[in-house]
Amino acid sequence: MQAVFLNEAGGADALYAAETAQPVPASGEVLVKVAAIGINPADIAVRSDNALLGMMYGEQRPVILGWDIAGTVVACGADVTAFKAGDEVFGMVNFPGNGSAYAEYTAAPAAHLALKPPHVSHEQAAASCLAACTAYQALLDIAAVKAGDKVLVHGASGGVGHFAVQIAKACGAYVAGTSSAQNRDLVLSLGADEHIDYRSENVSERLHGFDIVLETAPGNLLSSIAVLRSGGKIVSTARFEYGADVSEQAAAKQIAIDTIKVRSQPATITALATLLASGACKPHIHQTFAFADLRAAHSALENRQVTAGKVVLNGLPESANP
Ligand SMILES: NC(=O)c1ccc[n+]([C@@H]2O[C@H](COP(=O)([O-])OP(=O)(O)OC[C@H]3O[C@@H](n4cnc5c(N)ncnc54)[C@H](OP(=O)(O)O)[C@@H]3O)[C@@H](O)[C@H]2O)c1
Repeated sequence: MQAVFLNEAGGADALYAAETAQPVPASGEVLVKVAAIGINPADIAVRSDNALLGMMYGEQRPVILGWDIAGTVVACGADVTAFKAGDEVFGMVNFPGNGSAYAEYTAAPAAHLALKPPHVSHEQAAASCLAACTAYQALLDIAAVKAGDKVLVHGASGGVGHFAVQIAKACGAYVAGTSSAQNRDLVLSLGADEHIDYRSENVSERLHGFDIVLETAPGNLLSSIAVLRSGGKIVSTARFEYGADVSEQAAAKQIAIDTIKVRSQPATITALATLLASGACKPHIHQTFAFADLRAAHSALENRQVTAGKVVLNGLPESANP
């Protein structure tokens, strides 16, 4: 089969295509014929940083990057009862760890996959993996969002943020989202109740009494604290260090500041399949590249040519089933 390998961290041109043997699904795994692949900022970060590469893949080299897939089950390992050959599935495979998604076939733990809703395309499903899992786990598992909550999503036009807006709305929350002005219409079309242009407005002058802030972009913790009610929660997608002023103001309002570290979890991908099936969540796909143009997809994401939503790959090689 065709796969895209990486020998050591580097630029997009460090990625190279080569033939390799199809993986054999171990117990609890299924072999998926990949139809579409989602690309995330995490793909770029791991590709370009040997320390991150080591955290994900240990000593193994070369490696096959990638975590987000949609495709068709072609074989099942022992002890797999959830799926059978022919099922269309999607999911975030082995994150954090060895995902091996940039390939014609991937052996994936069945527990990391869900059935793809029939009316959702492979591209849409592949776009709804790591970013959507992050939004879901941040809002539901950490912040425990509920109906009536007021939620501010920073970076509401981005991969994580545009899912967060939709998930929070599906939970019955009131949602404000920040982005640049060019993405205002997109953010409102996702269901956000109000939009704030982070370049021209200060959120803390406009929003008050919020329950949850999701920071998916470099936010300003002091302004997020100002936006929240006492006992509110901040969840960030980035690790950050903050000074005594932030600690003091957060403590004074009993505000918890947490960092999400997304993980492949059966409950998350199953819940996302339900949200996609009902139409409550729909990915915004900025651009679709052919599998052969994987390097160009990395470059587009890395060089900030992706102005909103997700980048996906399709057009994987057509070879005979195993
Ligand atoms: N810890 C984890 O488990 C985890 C998981 C997933 C992602 N992440 C990280 O979370 C971050 C977001 O990921 P993503 O996939 O959503 O990235 P993305 O698709 O690049 O989206 C980022 C969005 O943030 C907006 N933005 C930029 N600066 C902003 C600011 N100052 N205020 C408000 N919005 C701003 C941009 O919108 P405009 O174009 O409209 O300016 C952009 O659409 C990345 O750093 C990623 O590495 C972490």
